[in-house]
Amino acid sequence: MAHDFLSLSDAGGDVLAAMINDAMDRKAARKAWPKGQPDADAPLAGHVLAMIFEKNSTRTRVSFDMAMRQLGGSALIMEAGSTQLGRGETVADTARVLSRMVDAIMIRTDDHAKIEELAHYADVPVINGLTDLSHPCQIVADLLTVVEHGHALPGLQMAWLGDGNNVANSLIEAAGLMKFTIRIGGPAGYEPDPGFIARARAAGGEVILTQNPQEAVAGAQVVVTDTWVSMGQAGGEQHVAAMQPYQVNAALMATAAPDAKFLHCLPAHRNEEVTDGVIDGPQSVVWDEAENRIHAQKSVLLWSLGKL
Ligand code: CP
Ligand code: NVA
Repeated sequence: MAHDFLSLSDAGGDVLAAMINDAMDRKAARKAWPKGQPDADAPLAGHVLAMIFEKNSTRTRVSFDMAMRQLGGSALIMEAGSTQLGRGETVADTARVLSRMVDAIMIRTDDHAKIEELAHYADVPVINGLTDLSHPCQIVADLLTVVEHGHALPGLQMAWLGDGNNVANSLIEAAGLMKFTIRIGGPAGYEPDPGFIARARAAGGEVILTQNPQEAVAGAQVVVTDTWVSMGQAGGEQHVAAMQPYQVNAALMATAAPDAKFLHCLPAHRNEEVTDGVIDGPQSVVWDEAENRIHAQKSVLLWSLGKL
């Protein structure tokens, strides 16, 4: 059965666990192979993914393209500005047309309502490649990275520092689905979406909000941050000033668990939300995390196309 992947909850905890396992198996099976060589079973042979970008991307674009190649299929990139969508053709009509031409659609956009509309009118699976509200594909890669580095997800202690953005919202969603604790350290007025917090708590995740960065990080096994100003956000001096106490630096990392790992979805703004010392240091797993976008996206694609 085909599925949209607009949020982690579309899949649920059991499917997320299966995605992580499948990603680990496929990653291990192709170790040291050329990166463009298809997996032995090529499960998406003949399938094409259309990727629509209304915002910049490096990792999402390359990882989905490589994921499709490794699964035996292919991908095409549509920069929204150079398509008729960019000249006012409706989202609904775009969905109807693409559904006749490709097997799945991934979109990176601003307003989350737009991806919901696209999914409503498309007959093929639609995958969320980031909206202003959420970034679920990133979190599948993050969870894979955490598990690879030896942590079970249930009971995990995670800290998030800085802006309560799209990545934070999806991590909170994951806390509910996988039953872990996430402590959010950030300034008043920049909290994550209250709906995500309420749903994660109701699902059995522990979500703690604090304005004290040390309290957020104390004893954490995984410390995560992201840009202080996301794509499309106004930012401004006041916003950036409010974030300063939440920089992940050596002093703050020292208050986490001794073997704590540092994650960042990238791109990083070095020496703003994270110091060079931390992102380039021994606790950082950000390059594994970036690579894992490919392996995680493969699981997302397989599930969306009814093959996982
Ligand atoms: N982390 C992430 O989504 O990176 P890109 O913006 O480069 O796709
Ligand atoms: N929160 C960031 C994530 C980039 C991958 C943004 O939306 O710009």
